[in-house]
Amino acid sequence: MLTSDDLLYARHIEDRRDQIDAALNELGYDALLIHSGRPKNRLFDDQHPPFRAHAPFVAIVPLPFAEDCLLEFQAGRKPRLWFCQPQDFWHLPPADPENWWAEHFQIEPVGSASDWEPRFRNRRALAAIGDPGVLDGLGDEVAINPPELLHRLAEARTRKTAWERECLAAANRRAAGGHVAAAAAFRRGASELEIQLEYLRAVGQDQDAQPYPGIVALNEHAAVLHYQNRSADPPSKCLSFLLDAGADHHGYASDITRTWTLPEHAEFAALVNAVDLQQQRLCESMRPGANFADLHRQAHLGIAEVVRVSGLVDMSPDDMVESGVSGYFLPHGLGHFLGAQVHDVNGLVAADGEVLPPPAQHPFLRLSRNLEPGNVVTVEPGLYFIPVLLDKLRRSEHGRRVRWERVEALRPFGGIRIEDNVLVSEGDPVNLTRQAFAALE
Ligand code: GLY
Ligand code: MN
Ligand code: MN
Repeated sequence: MLTSDDLLYARHIEDRRDQIDAALNELGYDALLIHSGRPKNRLFDDQHPPFRAHAPFVAIVPLPFAEDCLLEFQAGRKPRLWFCQPQDFWHLPPADPENWWAEHFQIEPVGSASDWEPRFRNRRALAAIGDPGVLDGLGDEVAINPPELLHRLAEARTRKTAWERECLAAANRRAAGGHVAAAAAFRRGASELEIQLEYLRAVGQDQDAQPYPGIVALNEHAAVLHYQNRSADPPSKCLSFLLDAGADHHGYASDITRTWTLPEHAEFAALVNAVDLQQQRLCESMRPGANFADLHRQAHLGIAEVVRVSGLVDMSPDDMVESGVSGYFLPHGLGHFLGAQVHDVNGLVAADGEVLPPPAQHPFLRLSRNLEPGNVVTVEPGLYFIPVLLDKLRRSEHGRRVRWERVEALRPFGGIRIEDNVLVSEGDPVNLTRQAFAALE
């Protein structure tokens, strides 16, 4: 029986086929190949990092862990999937294709890439997307990753189909349960490692299936933006907990951050609430036509207002933003596109291909476009107490405007980030993350 998801996927494939047909036609190619990727061993080793298929492949077929598969598109023809199922007794070969997605492809089971590679070697008017180190075997005639074609396919991915929206919403629902379980573990005094294990258990996904390594940061570790360790030692004090972790659904990511504290830390708790209010206001601003670089400046003004009201810095928000002082407390971008990649493609380029660099003062911003219906963005303002930046601020001409005794009291809490995934629509923005948390209540 057909489900509504089956219909969404059918339309998704129809859209992708139309977009690819149009691009091939306009750029003068007869056919397009998209490779899923191949694991690469570490130097002088037979082990490799966890494998994840290339996003241009995953954005078409829901096989985020399939190795050495190849999609073949030709205008007007049902796309073909060269589906690699090695006869392997070391690893489990991929399961047989499931009908709900496989019916949209002509499936060609193969044992290895050498079964498909000779067919395409030196074929003219053929474009291929994948790792050049792997695809170079196709010979000089094949156009590997031609930029105009890559741009068109990436551009299509900036406006999510109904299927992709549902995958992103489902990835949010999965991760929200993990966040709730992780917060409970924090309140019990668990270590970072224990919290991580609790998160994965609740999400029901192994770490290798996660769209990015979760950031599990207790206390001052919350000041390390991409904190990568997970200490097995329980903390001597439970001050704060920042969790930046998502989940996967058919290759689509959620990317959610929450920050918690305990009621006895009233000053930090008030700061968390103030950042949360600013974040919700920003989420409401994710509307068609809004420029994301402008929204990023709004985020700085909002965080600067929190910094001022909390009595941390004696400057107006405008002056804090103008002078760069807000950047010491919020050194990363407001957000990015989200999809089959956590930091999804074409955030810094316009639809016509014009490069849109981030503002000079905010080089880490990953999205500078005007928003359109169908975009899915993260909204992730923060307020941190980062030792190396605070030292710089102290030495700067603005150092005397800072109430250092208050800042020092907050330093052990590390910082705050609140991150939601928001769908831009013709109407009000749809906050996939808050909807997911609300559904748990
Ligand atoms: N989790 C990475 C990010 O928020 O961009
Ligand atoms: Mn993010
Ligand atoms: Mn994140």
